[in-house]
Amino acid sequence: AQGLCKLEDFIAGCTRCPLHEGRRNIVFGVGNPEARLAFVGEGPGADEDAQGIPFVGKAGQLLTKIIEAINLTREDVYICNVVKCRPPRNRTPLIEEQRTCGRFLERQLEFVNPEVIVALGATAANYLLEMEEVPVGRIRNRFHQRGNALVMPTYHPAYLLRTPTGKRPVWEDMKKVRDKLGLEKK
Ligand code: URA
Repeated sequence: AQGLCKLEDFIAGCTRCPLHEGRRNIVFGVGNPEARLAFVGEGPGADEDAQGIPFVGKAGQLLTKIIEAINLTREDVYICNVVKCRPPRNRTPLIEEQRTCGRFLERQLEFVNPEVIVALGATAANYLLEMEEVPVGRIRNRFHQRGNALVMPTYHPAYLLRTPTGKRPVWEDMKKVRDKLGLEKK
């Protein structure tokens, strides 16, 4: 927890990439600093930027339900994003922005050291797995080794809001995560 706090302090006021120009708050991360399970999204939206907390808008409310579906709470897990500042008009962060901010994500994940990381959407999945523009549909539903952790790519909750048929596959992915962590079924 101390390492995470120091890292958060270290990036306070960050101007290392152009995303700082449009942000109100840096959205660092929330949850259990010793979580066995982490969720990584793309970058803050408007609600997250306003509050400085990841996944608190509509997509965030859906993420909370996804977490609760495997008998956990937001307090049990760790939640963060590839980039910590809101991109203009919620555009996908540029590769350059992802690389600049991603080294902080990497430090963050080293401190938390989760067993499983759920990569929410293609941006997080490609970043974490060092791939380029591979669609989630091609890599989801199986674990990918990344250092000490296993990465499960799945659809982003914002995508599920537009495409409810994606909910079934996300549930299939989450059941694998639940079973890998030995969590109880509901
Ligand atoms: N979408 C993301 O990728 N991250 C958030 O924190 C909120 C919405």
